[in-house]
Amino acid sequence: MCGIVGYIGRMRSDEILLKNLKKLEYRGYDSSGIAVLKNNEIIVRKESGCIANLEKTVEEIYGSCGIAHTRWATHGKPTKENAHPHTSSDNEWAIVHNGIIENYGELKEDLISKNISFSSETDSEVVAQLLSVEKNENLMERVIDVCGKLVGSYALICVNKNTPNTLYLAKQKSPLYVGIKSGEVFVGSDPICLSGMVDNYYSLEDGEFCQASSEKLVFFDSYKNIINKASVKLENINYNSGLGDYPHYMLKEIEEVPSVLRRVVDVYKQSNILDKIDISNVNKIIIVGCGTAYHAGLMGSKYIERLVRIDCSCHVASEFRYSDPIIDDKTLAIFVSQSGETADTISALDLAKSKGAKIVALTNVLYSTVAKKSDIILPVCAGPEIAVASTKAYSAQITVFYMLAKCLQNKVFSKNVDYFGEVEKLSDALKQIDFEDVRELSKVLVDKKEAFFIGRNRDYVTSEEASLKLKEITYINSSAYPAGELKHGFLALIENDTYVFMIATEKDLLEKTLNGAFESMARGGKIFAFSQFDLKKYESENFKYIKMPNLNEEVMPILSISYFQMLSYLTSIAKGLNPDKPRNLAKSVTVE
Ligand code: AGP
Repeated sequence: MCGIVGYIGRMRSDEILLKNLKKLEYRGYDSSGIAVLKNNEIIVRKESGCIANLEKTVEEIYGSCGIAHTRWATHGKPTKENAHPHTSSDNEWAIVHNGIIENYGELKEDLISKNISFSSETDSEVVAQLLSVEKNENLMERVIDVCGKLVGSYALICVNKNTPNTLYLAKQKSPLYVGIKSGEVFVGSDPICLSGMVDNYYSLEDGEFCQASSEKLVFFDSYKNIINKASVKLENINYNSGLGDYPHYMLKEIEEVPSVLRRVVDVYKQSNILDKIDISNVNKIIIVGCGTAYHAGLMGSKYIERLVRIDCSCHVASEFRYSDPIIDDKTLAIFVSQSGETADTISALDLAKSKGAKIVALTNVLYSTVAKKSDIILPVCAGPEIAVASTKAYSAQITVFYMLAKCLQNKVFSKNVDYFGEVEKLSDALKQIDFEDVRELSKVLVDKKEAFFIGRNRDYVTSEEASLKLKEITYINSSAYPAGELKHGFLALIENDTYVFMIATEKDLLEKTLNGAFESMARGGKIFAFSQFDLKKYESENFKYIKMPNLNEEVMPILSISYFQMLSYLTSIAKGLNPDKPRNLAKSVTVE
């Protein structure tokens, strides 16, 4: 994971680098650091923890160019010593790295045998040390030589103390973007770092390199040949508009859901994107994603199979890519990713593509790697999502899946059912909910060590996502179970006062789901039943009923997840945690 930035120019490089680095904090906040070239010296500052810690300790350090890094630890603890930038022992080179050097162990051993001493436990430091050991006088070529020895993934920005006006860039499987305008160069892991600074930018491809100076950008392939690259117009890049009056991004993003759903409807009403998905020659649909995006895909597969009657399955990307899946040119493969940069999702996409599948991206970031590699893009339209825990993007993703399934159903069965109206009603209903019950519930949940979520069919998928949300930002150990599975093991976990959240939004399955709740209650479990159906008659000390608005059953999952997003948020606050930056996590998982 990690985010890297670089800058050459006349402005205060510390300010520019920190400002752009903050835009990348979604990629990790274990530590951060900055290196600036000044009077042929490399000045480095590092701190553990989030960028705010670094900011406090960075006094004015500005030279002609600099690099900076925000880290999500892969190798070595999140300490100051392991923070980037890493320098070579002779202090000639400094580098920042995003990715994993898989063969760093053998490279390090070899360097140690040559009396090079290391000052960190990271895989990345080998790059800085190799750069000083290699002999090529042409420094760009030296970077290319060093990269020839690396196995793994990397986006690298390197500086050498003797070339104060130059950044050396390398890219393999981790994103890297560069732009130049009026003698200023901006580099970053995400084009948001270039937003407002340049009009056009260049996206490095795997195996490409760039020697960037204030005069020009020169691109190379791995054979050291100069290559021509086309620039991309910098547009459609939304960066977050700040917190406003909100205490946290997560709350802001949950409260944005009704307007996001309106936007989704508007965008899909005005375009014919869904019509572009042709399944006349398709015999199965697969959906792939990670984490919350996987849950959105699970919901999508429920919608598609039920409504379109076509074989549709959903897979966790990290499993899928190593499972030798049966895919051919009759497969439609949908890749779900808020960021569009999740490493396993990208590799799974590459695999499906290599087997001839038609590729659809369901993503919130239209310039992302997943989007670029796809035949068709279904925009999520959620706007920038900053909090690590995904909320509005999930709600928007399942809304797009719902609309896609309804659109395909209309096509396949020659129907003309309106589905936009259902989402509009849903958006209005969501605006009216005050979440008072949920607020009360969070006050008692705060002391719990564990919690369970049960539901059937679509409500089981909601249970999975609700459980992930809770564990992610409250650290309460939670799990989800299909409500029909309880007797097969789950009930052994029930003790007096074990919290069980029951979700029941499908009429046909209500009685069955209630049976599971009663079985849990009979063993001491305390049930919190979320449903639009009237369950008042069951209310008791151990059966609390949270009534949800009564909408079309098919869209209820889009509504019901909001209750659990809010419950997780309020519980996290009650525990005194920061819901926006849960421990050990990052928003975008760009390494395997
Ligand atoms: C969501 O709350 C999580 N932070 C995480 O599971 C996330 O959904 C997952 O990493 C996938 O990210 P993506 O949608 O950007 O691919």
